Amino acid sequence: MLTRAPKGTRDILPAEIGRWQHVERLFAETCRRFGYAEIRVPTFEHTELFQRGVGDTTDIVQKEMYTFPDKAGRSLSLRPEGTAGVVRSYIENGMASLPAPVKLFYMLTAFRYENVQKGRYREFHQFGVEAFGAAGPEVDAEIIGLLAAFFRSLGLRQTSLRINSIGCPDCRTAYHGILRDYLEPRLEGLCRDCRNRFDRNPLRILDCKEERCRLATAGAPALLDHLDPPCRDHFDRLRDALSSLDIAYTIDKGIVRGLDYYTRTVFEFVSDHVGTQGTICGGGRYDGLVEACGGAPTPGMGFGLGVERLLMHLDAQGVPLPVNPGPDLYLAPAGDGARPAAARLAQGLRERGVSVETDLCGRSLKAQMKYAGKIGARRTVVLGDDELASGRVRIRDMATGAEEEAGLDELAGSDVLAALLVAP
Ligand code: HAM
Repeated sequence: MLTRAPKGTRDILPAEIGRWQHVERLFAETCRRFGYAEIRVPTFEHTELFQRGVGDTTDIVQKEMYTFPDKAGRSLSLRPEGTAGVVRSYIENGMASLPAPVKLFYMLTAFRYENVQKGRYREFHQFGVEAFGAAGPEVDAEIIGLLAAFFRSLGLRQTSLRINSIGCPDCRTAYHGILRDYLEPRLEGLCRDCRNRFDRNPLRILDCKEERCRLATAGAPALLDHLDPPCRDHFDRLRDALSSLDIAYTIDKGIVRGLDYYTRTVFEFVSDHVGTQGTICGGGRYDGLVEACGGAPTPGMGFGLGVERLLMHLDAQGVPLPVNPGPDLYLAPAGDGARPAAARLAQGLRERGVSVETDLCGRSLKAQMKYAGKIGARRTVVLGDDELASGRVRIRDMATGAEEEAGLDELAGSDVLAALLVAP
Protein backbone atom coordinates (compact mmCIF):
# COMPACT_ATOMS: atom_id res chain seq x y z
CA MET A 1 0.00 0.00 0.00
CA LEU A 2 2.65 2.50 1.10
CA THR A 3 4.79 1.77 -1.91
CA ARG A 4 1.96 1.76 -4.44
CA ALA A 5 0.60 4.98 -5.97
CA PRO A 6 -3.22 5.20 -5.75
CA LYS A 7 -5.07 3.44 -8.57
CA GLY A 8 -5.33 5.58 -11.69
CA THR A 9 -2.37 7.79 -10.84
CA ARG A 10 1.13 7.44 -12.18
CA ASP A 11 4.58 8.91 -11.74
CA ILE A 12 6.27 10.68 -14.61
CA LEU A 13 9.82 9.52 -14.17
CA PRO A 14 13.02 11.34 -15.12
CA ALA A 15 13.50 8.88 -18.00
CA GLU A 16 10.31 10.14 -19.67
CA ILE A 17 10.34 13.78 -18.60
CA GLY A 18 12.06 14.84 -21.83
CA ARG A 19 8.97 13.76 -23.81
CA TRP A 20 6.64 15.69 -21.52
CA GLN A 21 8.75 18.82 -21.60
CA HIS A 22 8.90 18.58 -25.39
CA VAL A 23 5.11 18.51 -25.85
CA GLU A 24 4.65 21.18 -23.16
CA ARG A 25 7.17 23.47 -24.87
CA LEU A 26 5.61 22.98 -28.29
CA PHE A 27 2.09 23.54 -26.97
CA ALA A 28 3.05 26.74 -25.12
CA GLU A 29 4.93 27.97 -28.20
CA THR A 30 1.98 27.22 -30.51
CA CYS A 31 -0.40 29.01 -28.12
CA ARG A 32 1.90 32.03 -28.00
CA ARG A 33 1.89 32.24 -31.79
CA PHE A 34 -1.91 32.15 -31.81
CA GLY A 35 -2.11 34.91 -29.18
CA TYR A 36 -3.02 32.82 -26.10
CA ALA A 37 -1.59 33.77 -22.68
CA GLU A 38 -1.04 31.15 -19.98
CA ILE A 39 -3.33 30.99 -16.95
CA ARG A 40 -2.91 28.79 -13.86
CA VAL A 41 -5.98 28.09 -11.76
CA PRO A 42 -6.43 26.22 -8.45
CA THR A 43 -6.52 22.44 -8.27
CA PHE A 44 -9.78 22.54 -6.30
CA GLU A 45 -12.82 24.77 -6.48
CA HIS A 46 -16.18 25.02 -4.77
CA THR A 47 -18.16 21.93 -5.77
CA GLU A 48 -21.03 24.13 -6.88
CA LEU A 49 -18.91 25.60 -9.67
CA PHE A 50 -18.66 22.21 -11.35
CA GLN A 51 -22.30 21.35 -10.61
CA ARG A 52 -23.34 24.55 -12.36
CA GLY A 53 -20.62 24.62 -14.99
CA VAL A 54 -20.04 21.03 -16.06
CA GLY A 55 -23.65 20.17 -15.19
CA ASP A 56 -25.21 18.09 -12.43
CA THR A 57 -26.72 15.54 -14.83
CA THR A 58 -23.33 14.61 -16.30
CA ASP A 59 -21.40 11.46 -15.40
CA ILE A 60 -18.47 13.66 -14.43
CA VAL A 61 -20.42 15.43 -11.67
CA GLN A 62 -22.70 12.56 -10.70
CA LYS A 63 -20.12 9.81 -10.51
CA GLU A 64 -16.57 10.93 -11.11
CA MET A 65 -15.75 13.92 -8.95
CA TYR A 66 -13.41 13.82 -5.98
CA THR A 67 -15.55 15.83 -3.56
CA PHE A 68 -14.71 16.45 0.08
CA PRO A 69 -15.65 18.80 2.91
CA ASP A 70 -12.83 21.02 4.15
CA LYS A 71 -12.32 21.60 7.88
CA ALA A 72 -14.82 24.46 7.82
CA GLY A 73 -17.45 22.24 6.22
CA ARG A 74 -17.31 23.75 2.70
CA SER A 75 -17.81 21.29 -0.12
CA LEU A 76 -14.79 21.37 -2.43
CA SER A 77 -13.92 19.24 -5.46
CA LEU A 78 -10.71 18.47 -7.29
CA ARG A 79 -11.13 19.91 -10.77
CA PRO A 80 -12.39 17.26 -13.22
CA GLU A 81 -11.46 19.60 -16.13
CA GLY A 82 -10.10 23.10 -16.73
CA THR A 83 -12.89 25.17 -18.26
CA ALA A 84 -15.05 25.84 -15.19
CA GLY A 85 -12.11 27.14 -13.14
CA VAL A 86 -10.93 29.36 -15.99
CA VAL A 87 -14.45 30.75 -16.38
CA ARG A 88 -14.60 31.44 -12.63
CA SER A 89 -11.24 33.22 -12.84
CA TYR A 90 -12.34 35.22 -15.89
CA ILE A 91 -15.33 36.53 -13.93
CA GLU A 92 -13.58 36.99 -10.59
CA ASN A 93 -10.66 38.91 -12.09
CA GLY A 94 -12.79 41.22 -14.20
CA MET A 95 -11.31 39.98 -17.47
CA ALA A 96 -14.48 41.10 -19.23
CA SER A 97 -13.00 44.61 -19.12
CA LEU A 98 -9.98 43.47 -21.18
CA PRO A 99 -10.08 43.88 -24.96
CA ALA A 100 -11.99 40.95 -26.45
CA PRO A 101 -11.32 38.23 -27.27
CA VAL A 102 -9.55 37.18 -24.10
CA LYS A 103 -7.45 34.17 -25.14
CA LEU A 104 -6.08 31.90 -22.43
CA PHE A 105 -4.26 28.57 -22.39
CA TYR A 106 -3.42 26.12 -19.62
CA MET A 107 -1.58 22.93 -18.84
CA LEU A 108 -3.06 21.26 -15.79
CA THR A 109 -3.88 18.04 -13.99
CA ALA A 110 -7.51 16.94 -13.73
CA PHE A 111 -9.15 14.28 -11.59
CA ARG A 112 -11.98 11.88 -12.39
CA TYR A 113 -12.96 8.72 -10.55
CA GLU A 114 -13.20 6.57 -13.68
CA ASN A 115 -12.70 2.94 -14.59
CA VAL A 116 -8.97 2.82 -15.12
CA GLN A 117 -7.63 1.48 -18.40
CA LYS A 118 -4.93 2.40 -20.90
CA GLY A 119 -5.38 6.09 -21.69
CA ARG A 120 -7.98 6.56 -18.94
CA TYR A 121 -6.67 7.60 -15.55
CA ARG A 122 -7.97 9.15 -12.34
CA GLU A 123 -5.34 11.85 -12.37
CA PHE A 124 -4.47 12.98 -15.88
CA HIS A 125 -3.03 15.97 -17.67
CA GLN A 126 -4.86 18.34 -19.95
CA PHE A 127 -3.66 21.07 -22.27
CA GLY A 128 -6.43 23.49 -23.15
CA VAL A 129 -7.37 26.89 -24.45
CA GLU A 130 -10.39 29.10 -23.79
CA ALA A 131 -11.34 32.21 -25.80
CA PHE A 132 -13.90 34.63 -24.38
CA GLY A 133 -15.87 37.35 -26.12
CA ALA A 134 -15.98 36.22 -29.78
CA ALA A 135 -19.25 34.66 -30.95
CA GLY A 136 -18.51 34.02 -34.62
CA PRO A 137 -17.30 30.71 -36.07
CA GLU A 138 -13.96 32.35 -36.99
CA VAL A 139 -12.63 31.78 -33.47
CA ASP A 140 -13.85 28.16 -33.58
CA ALA A 141 -11.89 27.65 -36.80
CA GLU A 142 -8.83 29.45 -35.41
CA ILE A 143 -8.81 27.19 -32.33
CA ILE A 144 -9.11 24.08 -34.48
CA GLY A 145 -6.32 25.55 -36.62
CA LEU A 146 -4.18 25.92 -33.49
CA LEU A 147 -4.62 22.21 -32.79
CA ALA A 148 -3.81 21.31 -36.39
CA ALA A 149 -0.61 23.40 -36.18
CA PHE A 150 0.33 21.79 -32.84
CA PHE A 151 -0.20 18.27 -34.18
CA ARG A 152 1.79 19.08 -37.31
CA SER A 153 4.72 20.47 -35.31
CA LEU A 154 4.72 17.29 -33.21
CA GLY A 155 4.60 15.00 -36.21
CA LEU A 156 1.26 13.47 -35.14
CA ARG A 157 -0.59 11.94 -38.08
CA GLN A 158 -3.68 9.84 -38.60
CA THR A 159 -6.05 11.89 -36.52
CA SER A 160 -9.47 12.86 -37.80
CA LEU A 161 -11.35 15.99 -36.93
CA ARG A 162 -15.05 15.42 -36.28
CA ILE A 163 -17.40 18.33 -35.90
CA ASN A 164 -21.04 18.80 -35.02
CA SER A 165 -23.40 21.47 -33.76
CA ILE A 166 -25.69 20.98 -30.80
CA GLY A 167 -27.40 24.33 -31.28
CA CYS A 168 -28.48 26.91 -28.74
CA PRO A 169 -30.92 26.45 -25.82
CA ASP A 170 -33.81 27.43 -28.14
CA CYS A 171 -33.21 24.72 -30.73
CA ARG A 172 -32.40 22.31 -27.96
CA THR A 173 -35.73 22.83 -26.20
CA ALA A 174 -37.54 21.98 -29.43
CA TYR A 175 -35.23 19.01 -30.04
CA HIS A 176 -35.72 17.62 -26.52
CA GLY A 177 -39.38 17.06 -27.38
CA ILE A 178 -38.45 15.17 -30.56
CA LEU A 179 -35.87 13.10 -28.68
CA ARG A 180 -38.29 12.26 -25.87
CA ASP A 181 -40.86 11.08 -28.42
CA TYR A 182 -38.20 8.77 -29.84
CA LEU A 183 -36.96 7.53 -26.45
CA GLU A 184 -40.28 7.08 -24.65
CA PRO A 185 -41.07 3.62 -26.11
CA ARG A 186 -37.46 2.59 -25.35
CA LEU A 187 -37.37 3.92 -21.78
CA GLU A 188 -37.50 0.50 -20.11
CA GLY A 189 -34.30 -0.52 -21.91
CA LEU A 190 -32.28 2.41 -20.56
CA CYS A 191 -30.08 2.37 -17.46
CA ARG A 192 -31.41 3.90 -14.25
CA ASP A 193 -29.37 7.11 -14.66
CA CYS A 194 -30.74 7.60 -18.16
CA ARG A 195 -34.31 7.03 -17.04
CA ASN A 196 -33.72 9.90 -14.59
CA ARG A 197 -32.13 11.98 -17.33
CA PHE A 198 -35.15 11.51 -19.58
CA ASP A 199 -37.07 14.39 -17.99
CA ARG A 200 -34.19 16.58 -16.87
CA ASN A 201 -31.73 16.40 -19.76
CA PRO A 202 -32.46 13.78 -22.44
CA LEU A 203 -29.46 14.88 -24.55
CA ARG A 204 -27.21 13.31 -21.90
CA ILE A 205 -28.72 9.90 -22.72
CA LEU A 206 -26.99 10.09 -26.11
CA ASP A 207 -23.65 10.25 -24.31
CA CYS A 208 -24.18 7.35 -21.90
CA LYS A 209 -21.39 4.76 -21.89
CA GLU A 210 -23.75 1.82 -21.06
CA GLU A 211 -24.09 -0.60 -23.96
CA ARG A 212 -27.89 -0.91 -23.67
CA CYS A 213 -28.29 2.88 -23.79
CA ARG A 214 -26.02 3.09 -26.82
CA LEU A 215 -28.14 0.49 -28.58
CA ALA A 216 -31.39 2.21 -27.64
CA THR A 217 -30.19 5.56 -28.98
CA ALA A 218 -28.46 4.29 -32.13
CA GLY A 219 -31.22 5.48 -34.46
CA ALA A 220 -32.22 8.62 -32.52
CA PRO A 221 -32.92 11.82 -34.48
CA ALA A 222 -29.87 14.11 -34.56
CA LEU A 223 -29.83 17.62 -33.17
CA LEU A 224 -27.88 18.77 -36.22
CA ASP A 225 -30.98 18.14 -38.34
CA HIS A 226 -33.07 20.37 -36.05
CA LEU A 227 -31.00 23.55 -35.74
CA ASP A 228 -32.71 26.94 -35.92
CA PRO A 229 -31.59 29.21 -38.79
CA PRO A 230 -28.96 31.24 -36.83
CA CYS A 231 -27.32 28.05 -35.49
CA ARG A 232 -27.43 26.42 -38.93
CA ASP A 233 -25.79 29.54 -40.40
CA HIS A 234 -23.09 29.47 -37.68
CA PHE A 235 -22.33 25.84 -38.48
CA ASP A 236 -22.23 26.45 -42.25
CA ARG A 237 -19.85 29.34 -41.75
CA LEU A 238 -17.63 27.20 -39.53
CA ARG A 239 -17.42 24.66 -42.36
CA ASP A 240 -16.44 27.41 -44.80
CA ALA A 241 -13.82 28.77 -42.39
CA LEU A 242 -12.29 25.28 -41.95
CA SER A 243 -12.24 24.73 -45.69
CA SER A 244 -10.46 28.00 -46.29
CA LEU A 245 -7.82 26.89 -43.77
CA ASP A 246 -7.54 23.58 -45.69
CA ILE A 247 -8.52 21.65 -42.57
CA ALA A 248 -10.22 18.36 -43.38
CA TYR A 249 -13.14 17.28 -41.20
CA THR A 250 -16.08 14.94 -41.09
CA ILE A 251 -19.47 15.77 -39.67
CA ASP A 252 -20.36 13.43 -36.82
CA LYS A 253 -23.94 13.97 -35.72
CA GLY A 254 -23.35 11.70 -32.74
CA ILE A 255 -20.95 14.05 -30.91
CA VAL A 256 -22.81 15.60 -27.97
CA ARG A 257 -19.84 15.74 -25.50
CA GLY A 258 -19.96 14.71 -21.87
CA LEU A 259 -20.30 18.18 -20.38
CA ASP A 260 -23.44 20.30 -20.24
CA TYR A 261 -22.06 23.70 -21.11
CA TYR A 262 -21.74 23.31 -24.86
CA THR A 263 -23.71 25.33 -27.40
CA ARG A 264 -23.41 25.19 -31.18
CA THR A 265 -19.94 23.96 -32.24
CA VAL A 266 -18.63 20.75 -30.72
CA PHE A 267 -15.62 18.85 -32.05
CA GLU A 268 -13.20 16.04 -31.33
CA PHE A 269 -9.87 14.93 -32.73
CA VAL A 270 -9.89 11.15 -32.82
CA SER A 271 -6.97 8.87 -33.56
CA ASP A 272 -7.45 6.58 -36.53
CA HIS A 273 -6.10 3.74 -34.37
CA VAL A 274 -9.57 2.77 -33.28
CA GLY A 275 -10.04 2.02 -29.62
CA THR A 276 -12.14 3.34 -26.80
CA GLN A 277 -9.50 5.86 -25.80
CA GLY A 278 -9.16 7.27 -29.32
CA THR A 279 -10.33 10.76 -28.46
CA ILE A 280 -7.21 12.82 -28.01
CA CYS A 281 -8.97 16.11 -27.68
CA GLY A 282 -12.46 17.55 -27.43
CA GLY A 283 -13.99 20.96 -27.20
CA GLY A 284 -16.55 23.40 -28.39
CA ARG A 285 -18.43 26.57 -27.82
CA TYR A 286 -20.11 27.47 -24.51
CA ASP A 287 -21.97 30.72 -25.04
CA GLY A 288 -24.07 30.44 -21.85
CA LEU A 289 -21.43 29.30 -19.35
CA VAL A 290 -20.03 32.63 -18.18
CA GLU A 291 -23.54 33.87 -17.46
CA ALA A 292 -24.52 30.60 -15.74
CA CYS A 293 -21.52 31.04 -13.44
CA GLY A 294 -22.50 34.59 -12.49
CA GLY A 295 -20.84 36.77 -15.14
CA ALA A 296 -22.23 38.93 -17.92
CA PRO A 297 -23.40 37.07 -21.04
CA THR A 298 -20.15 36.23 -22.86
CA PRO A 299 -19.55 33.76 -25.67
CA GLY A 300 -16.75 31.25 -25.14
CA MET A 301 -14.94 28.53 -27.04
CA GLY A 302 -12.14 26.11 -26.20
CA PHE A 303 -10.82 22.58 -26.01
CA GLY A 304 -9.15 20.14 -23.64
CA LEU A 305 -6.50 17.69 -24.81
CA GLY A 306 -5.44 14.58 -22.92
CA VAL A 307 -1.65 14.64 -22.73
CA GLU A 308 -1.30 10.95 -21.78
CA ARG A 309 -3.40 10.05 -24.83
CA LEU A 310 -1.40 12.35 -27.06
CA LEU A 311 1.85 10.68 -25.98
CA MET A 312 0.25 7.26 -26.37
CA HIS A 313 -0.74 8.00 -29.96
CA LEU A 314 2.62 9.56 -30.79
CA ASP A 315 4.22 6.31 -29.56
CA ALA A 316 1.77 4.16 -31.52
CA GLN A 317 2.77 6.06 -34.65
CA GLY A 318 6.47 5.69 -33.89
CA VAL A 319 7.04 9.45 -33.71
CA PRO A 320 10.45 9.95 -32.08
CA LEU A 321 10.38 12.12 -28.97
CA PRO A 322 13.40 13.55 -27.21
CA VAL A 323 14.72 11.77 -24.16
CA ASN A 324 16.52 13.54 -21.35
CA PRO A 325 19.86 14.75 -22.68
CA GLY A 326 22.97 13.87 -20.70
CA PRO A 327 25.20 16.63 -19.31
CA ASP A 328 27.35 18.73 -21.64
CA LEU A 329 30.43 17.80 -19.66
CA TYR A 330 31.63 15.31 -17.08
CA LEU A 331 34.49 16.70 -15.04
CA ALA A 332 36.54 13.91 -13.43
CA PRO A 333 38.84 14.73 -10.55
CA ALA A 334 41.79 12.30 -10.63
CA GLY A 335 42.70 11.94 -6.98
CA ASP A 336 41.41 13.63 -3.88
CA GLY A 337 43.70 16.64 -4.29
CA ALA A 338 41.87 17.70 -7.44
CA ARG A 339 38.37 17.53 -5.95
CA PRO A 340 38.10 21.12 -4.65
CA ALA A 341 39.39 22.47 -7.98
CA ALA A 342 36.94 20.26 -9.90
CA ALA A 343 34.04 21.39 -7.74
CA ARG A 344 35.05 25.04 -8.22
CA LEU A 345 35.41 24.65 -11.98
CA ALA A 346 32.06 22.81 -12.22
CA GLN A 347 30.35 25.60 -10.28
CA GLY A 348 31.82 28.28 -12.58
CA LEU A 349 30.86 26.43 -15.75
CA ARG A 350 27.32 25.76 -14.46
CA GLU A 351 26.86 29.42 -13.69
CA ARG A 352 27.84 30.18 -17.27
CA GLY A 353 25.19 27.83 -18.62
CA VAL A 354 27.06 24.55 -19.18
CA SER A 355 25.48 21.45 -17.63
CA VAL A 356 28.28 19.74 -15.73
CA GLU A 357 28.45 16.63 -13.60
CA THR A 358 31.37 15.78 -11.38
CA ASP A 359 32.10 13.05 -8.85
CA LEU A 360 30.05 13.01 -5.65
CA CYS A 361 30.56 9.37 -4.74
CA GLY A 362 34.31 9.07 -4.30
CA ARG A 363 34.70 6.89 -7.41
CA SER A 364 38.02 5.91 -8.95
CA LEU A 365 38.89 7.57 -12.25
CA LYS A 366 38.02 4.40 -14.15
CA ALA A 367 34.65 4.13 -12.42
CA GLN A 368 33.98 7.80 -13.11
CA MET A 369 34.53 7.31 -16.84
CA LYS A 370 32.12 4.39 -16.80
CA TYR A 371 29.61 6.53 -14.96
CA ALA A 372 30.05 9.42 -17.45
CA GLY A 373 29.17 6.97 -20.24
CA LYS A 374 26.12 5.71 -18.39
CA ILE A 375 24.68 9.18 -17.83
CA GLY A 376 25.29 10.13 -21.46
CA ALA A 377 27.83 12.91 -20.88
CA ARG A 378 28.77 14.44 -24.24
CA ARG A 379 32.33 15.33 -23.21
CA THR A 380 34.72 14.52 -20.40
CA VAL A 381 37.61 16.37 -18.85
CA VAL A 382 40.06 14.78 -16.42
CA LEU A 383 41.44 17.10 -13.79
CA GLY A 384 44.50 15.73 -11.92
CA ASP A 385 47.75 17.02 -10.48
CA ASP A 386 49.35 17.28 -13.96
CA GLU A 387 46.47 19.30 -15.37
CA LEU A 388 46.39 21.59 -12.36
CA ALA A 389 50.16 22.13 -12.59
CA SER A 390 50.21 22.76 -16.35
CA GLY A 391 46.91 24.61 -16.43
CA ARG A 392 45.91 22.59 -19.50
CA VAL A 393 43.21 19.91 -19.94
CA ARG A 394 42.02 17.60 -22.71
CA ILE A 395 38.34 17.74 -23.66
CA ARG A 396 37.25 14.35 -24.92
CA ASP A 397 34.23 13.95 -27.17
CA MET A 398 32.49 10.82 -25.92
CA ALA A 399 30.82 10.01 -29.24
CA THR A 400 33.88 10.26 -31.51
CA GLY A 401 36.72 9.82 -29.02
CA ALA A 402 38.35 12.97 -30.46
CA GLU A 403 40.34 15.05 -28.02
CA GLU A 404 40.97 18.74 -27.98
CA GLU A 405 43.36 20.56 -25.68
CA ALA A 406 42.37 23.71 -23.86
CA GLY A 407 43.76 25.89 -21.12
CA LEU A 408 41.95 25.71 -17.79
CA ASP A 409 41.27 29.45 -17.94
CA GLU A 410 40.12 29.01 -21.48
CA LEU A 411 37.74 26.21 -20.44
CA ALA A 412 35.88 28.67 -18.27
CA GLY A 413 36.26 31.29 -21.02
CA SER A 414 33.60 32.07 -23.53
CA ASP A 415 34.89 30.35 -26.70
CA VAL A 416 35.12 26.86 -25.29
CA LEU A 417 31.92 27.35 -23.34
CA ALA A 418 30.16 28.46 -26.47
CA ALA A 419 31.41 25.35 -28.25
CA LEU A 420 30.11 23.17 -25.43
CA LEU A 421 26.74 24.86 -25.47
CA VAL A 422 26.18 24.56 -29.20
CA ALA A 423 27.62 21.07 -29.57
CA PRO A 424 24.97 18.58 -30.75
P1 HAM B 1 -13.28 16.27 -22.09
O1 HAM B 1 -13.71 15.70 -23.40
O2 HAM B 1 -13.98 15.80 -20.89
O3 HAM B 1 -13.43 17.85 -22.23
O4 HAM B 1 -11.74 16.03 -21.88
C1 HAM B 1 -10.81 16.47 -22.84
C2 HAM B 1 -9.77 15.40 -23.09
O5 HAM B 1 -9.16 15.02 -21.86
C3 HAM B 1 -10.32 14.11 -23.65
O6 HAM B 1 -10.47 14.17 -25.04
C4 HAM B 1 -9.25 13.11 -23.27
O7 HAM B 1 -8.17 13.14 -24.19
C5 HAM B 1 -8.75 13.66 -21.94
N1 HAM B 1 -9.33 12.89 -20.84
C6 HAM B 1 -10.55 12.99 -20.31
N2 HAM B 1 -10.72 12.14 -19.29
C7 HAM B 1 -9.56 11.46 -19.17
C8 HAM B 1 -9.07 10.42 -18.30
N3 HAM B 1 -9.83 9.93 -17.33
N4 HAM B 1 -7.81 9.97 -18.47
C9 HAM B 1 -7.03 10.49 -19.45
N5 HAM B 1 -7.42 11.46 -20.28
C10 HAM B 1 -8.66 11.94 -20.16
C11 HAM B 1 -13.11 18.73 -21.24
O8 HAM B 1 -12.52 18.44 -20.24
C12 HAM B 1 -13.49 20.16 -21.58
N6 HAM B 1 -13.07 21.01 -20.46
C13 HAM B 1 -12.83 20.59 -22.87
C14 HAM B 1 -13.15 22.01 -23.23
C15 HAM B 1 -12.43 23.11 -22.95
N7 HAM B 1 -14.24 22.39 -23.89
C16 HAM B 1 -14.22 23.71 -24.01
N8 HAM B 1 -13.12 24.16 -23.45
